[in-house]
Amino acid sequence: MNEFWRLLGYAKPFRGRLALAVLAMLVYAAGSVGIMSIVKDIFDGVLIPKPTNVNGVALTLLGAFAIKGIGAYFSSYLMTEVGQRVVMDLRNRLFRHILIQSAAFFSTRTSGQLISRITNDVSQVQTAASETAADMVRESVTLVGYAAFLFYLDASLAVLCVATVPLVVYPLVRLGQRVRSTTRLSQEQQEHLTHVASEGLTGHRIVKAFRAEAREGARFAAVGEKLYRTNMRITAAMSALPPLMEFIGGIAAAGALWYAAEKIRLGVLTPGEFAAFLGTAFSMYGPIKKLSRVNAGLQQAIAAAQRIFEMLDTHSEVKERPGAKALAPLQSTVEFRDVAFAYDDTPDKYILRHVSFTARAGQVVALVGLSGAGKTTLVNLIPRFYDVTEGALLIDDVDVRDVTLASLRGQIALVTQENVLFDDTIAANIAYGAPHASRAAIEAAAQAAHAHDFILEVEGGYEARIGERGQRLSGGQRQRLAIARAILTNAPILVLDEATSALDSESEQAVQAALVNLMRDRTTFVIAHRLSTVRHADLIVALEDGQVAELGTHDSLIDRAGGVYARLHALQIMDEREEIL
Ligand SMILES: Nc1ncnc2c1ncn2[C@@H]1O[C@H](COP(=O)(O)OP(=O)(O)OP(=O)(O)O)[C@@H](O)[C@H]1O
Ligand SMILES: [Mg+2]
Repeated sequence: MNEFWRLLGYAKPFRGRLALAVLAMLVYAAGSVGIMSIVKDIFDGVLIPKPTNVNGVALTLLGAFAIKGIGAYFSSYLMTEVGQRVVMDLRNRLFRHILIQSAAFFSTRTSGQLISRITNDVSQVQTAASETAADMVRESVTLVGYAAFLFYLDASLAVLCVATVPLVVYPLVRLGQRVRSTTRLSQEQQEHLTHVASEGLTGHRIVKAFRAEAREGARFAAVGEKLYRTNMRITAAMSALPPLMEFIGGIAAAGALWYAAEKIRLGVLTPGEFAAFLGTAFSMYGPIKKLSRVNAGLQQAIAAAQRIFEMLDTHSEVKERPGAKALAPLQSTVEFRDVAFAYDDTPDKYILRHVSFTARAGQVVALVGLSGAGKTTLVNLIPRFYDVTEGALLIDDVDVRDVTLASLRGQIALVTQENVLFDDTIAANIAYGAPHASRAAIEAAAQAAHAHDFILEVEGGYEARIGERGQRLSGGQRQRLAIARAILTNAPILVLDEATSALDSESEQAVQAALVNLMRDRTTFVIAHRLSTVRHADLIVALEDGQVAELGTHDSLIDRAGGVYARLHALQIMDEREEIL
């Protein structure tokens, strides 16, 4: 039930509305009971002896219906409003929370799963927050009103009816438990379904190329089938409740009928009182039916809320220290001091070990090594996508773990092999790191990135939308936009992870020229398979199995017999010859 109170906590800011909603519910209950009390007048005062005062009773009846209607309208409107707002808050909070998680968090979860938490789990809570909560309060108030009226009419008859209540509690509780556990399962399967769908859709080209449409379709259907079965189990439990309640209600009504007939015969009860009694007893069926689902609905909401809170309680491994200071703009050095690193899921497998080197401000540092040597892992430490396991990374002799993330990341521009562009205009994509940049600044960055010319050829120019992940552009064009973005960000530290690897020689030349513009006056860490970029680096760090095998410049390393760099260089020359042939 902890989740319940926590969820309720989110409604705190809307106390005023909630109070109004409860007031509307009281009005609704008063109207409902009012109608029943008029039933007595109809029988005893209008129908049975002889018709008198018909207009008065009819008008009162209309008034009671109007009061009930107004109460119904406002209570459901206000409760839904509060529910929607609570859910919007929760969803925003969840999305932001997920976004600030570390890279390790994202590598163990798929985007489909995360999207499912943000959408399905939250909407599950929404149903409960507005509908169930409204029913819970409104129907129980009404029920209490009806019960009080029953006692007023005839206490012994009322006792007879109320005696059946304990009969219904047990099945309610049991079915509620079942609904909660099954709902959790259902949400997990829903999550899996979203994951399978998003994987298939984002990879649609590969799916088609490998003729796997039917296979992916079957995979999706299999998960859907499981979800269907689980949902039907929930439905079975939820559908069993109303008939069960109705039957127990029937027992009570039958008993009352028998008992009341006797009382009327003895003249203790008027027919009007009995009609009102029976009407009230039958009217109680509606609220009881709704209330019987309230527990189940609540259990559903709690199951979904649990999953949301689990996510909200996950805290990023990469944390800002309390009282962390802003990092001053880079002055002199970026130093790796005896750095070791292992990914969290394989804590015994060190990907990096004893890595020590220093980059001076303005230098170009090239990282070379075979695939899997740890180059990407190494540069991911600079913006703290991951934290070092041992040793330290220091910028101007300040440990990066001691400064704020925003000030650290604000000094780093990143261009990777897979550059993520957003489904927005070209101008907005270039300005992603500097949202307030002027059009002139955006165009200047595009010029420096050798992107201006192709942008003008695209229909719509800078205002052209480029599709999800920039699908409407070529790989080289995307790369140049990413470079323009990095140029505009104007950060003192630049990280280039195979920024040119996917390009042909012609566009690579354009991108290379763009990169030269970008690297000017910045401290650059560059990973490149083509060693031409590396040749002019101020410092070459050759990694082998996560260790620094060699440190030096091209000239100092190229002639070392059996050296890593010399070997890579020889391979590279062979590659280039093959390309020419
Ligand atoms: N998120 C991760 N979780 C666990 N292990 C990882 C993760 N990312 C990379 N690795 C492992 O770390 C090692 C180094 O990977 P890394 O990406 O740093 O290599 P790289 O030098 O950049 O290679 P490439 O030239 O192919 O890009 C690899 O053995 C890889 O399996
Ligand atoms: Mg890599």
